[in-house]
Amino acid sequence: MHHSAKPRLQRLFLGKYLFCALLAIAAAVPLARPSFAPQPAKNVTLTVAGFGYQAAEQLQAEGLKEFIRNTGIQVQFLPAWGNSADQLGVILRTLDRHFSTPDVYLIDVIWPATLHQHLLDLRPYLKSDPSQYLPELLKNDTVAGRIVSLPFYLNAGMLFYRTDLLKKYGYRQPPASWQELEKMALHIQRGERAAGHSPFWGYVWQGASYEGLTCNALEWQASFGGGRIVAPDGTIQVNNPQTANAFRMAARWVGSISPPSIISYSESDSLNLFRSGNAAFMRYWSSGYRTTQAPGSQVRGHFNVTELPAGPAGRAQIVGGFQLAVSRYSAHPREAAQLVEYLTSSKIQRSRAIEEGYLPTISQLYSDVDLLDVVPEATVFRSASRDSWIARPSAIAAAKYSALSKNYYETVHRILTGQSSPEAALSDLQQALADLKINAASRGN
Ligand code: GLC
Repeated sequence: MHHSAKPRLQRLFLGKYLFCALLAIAAAVPLARPSFAPQPAKNVTLTVAGFGYQAAEQLQAEGLKEFIRNTGIQVQFLPAWGNSADQLGVILRTLDRHFSTPDVYLIDVIWPATLHQHLLDLRPYLKSDPSQYLPELLKNDTVAGRIVSLPFYLNAGMLFYRTDLLKKYGYRQPPASWQELEKMALHIQRGERAAGHSPFWGYVWQGASYEGLTCNALEWQASFGGGRIVAPDGTIQVNNPQTANAFRMAARWVGSISPPSIISYSESDSLNLFRSGNAAFMRYWSSGYRTTQAPGSQVRGHFNVTELPAGPAGRAQIVGGFQLAVSRYSAHPREAAQLVEYLTSSKIQRSRAIEEGYLPTISQLYSDVDLLDVVPEATVFRSASRDSWIARPSAIAAAKYSALSKNYYETVHRILTGQSSPEAALSDLQQALADLKINAASRGN
């Protein structure tokens, strides 16, 4: 039922396969429009890469219709596969070759600084004021003074918890600290199993060796006061007792309150288990709320979301999410920028939040009462202390982020599987990250 970590060869093969598939589709795009279709006013078709099938369909059914009607610009989607790293590989190989399509890319929040040289500066094209976006996100999208992408939606790490089970076991509040979470998870797990509910687990999260583990682990590390991997001045922060303690805690969960197979869990594995009613708590992204509340979810109406528990140094939750960017090699930069500005506009973001639960990236929408009413995840985000929301060090590491994150999650994975002690693993990691020579200058501004 669960994905296991893919062997390297298979991943390589998959990468090649995806790349060829992307090329084939990209080459076919101009032919794909049926000849009997009415010619759009500007005779421009934009290709957008990075959306899943469902997300592309939703967008086509809603916001895009108006855009197409008003501008005459056609929009086609190239479906995305794989996780963030797989997608980055395909995007980089396409952009490195200066292909004119895709015109627009949906990219993870960690990639603007990696891809910036290939991306169009959107600033000269914008009609609206970019300061409407959350300042942290706009800063992340601005590289060397150029706005290379615009924030499309925000994804925030949160704790999902079962309201029915908390009540059943006499808890009035979700856990405020990791210690409390451990106790509650164990207690509920024991009780449920004793009542014949097996398999049942206390806590699920993302423990496979990939970007998702970087997010989970940095939340543990930061909440223990172990730093943020790279400090703003470029100092590497991993080899310290706080981080070792944080990772020791998580390693203890494997096989106790979390399934032994948690070390191969990515997002969908944890979500499936929680949705099927077999876990008390889950670390997931805000983007999981709607599907957990949808018909078909066993826990519909029986769960809620809140901030992740605090460690000795307070709470920490990763801000993820996706951005829209225009390729510098697009033959239609103006139209592509127009599409990106439209899709990230307040109007579209508001309806995507209300209809589909995507957290907005526009500050003002966090005081829209109608929106807050139906998007509880937005309320969690809004009411949490700003200091507790943390970004991965992708802006400072820039093109080295991918290597940094891989070193980091592989190390954490070795600790989780008991292959290394936290101390030995973190001392090696400190050296490996120092060897990457990340400094404030590597960002290029
Ligand atoms: C989510 C986040 C993204 C993050 C990924 C990790 O998709 O939005 O920022 O990189 O999870 O698995």
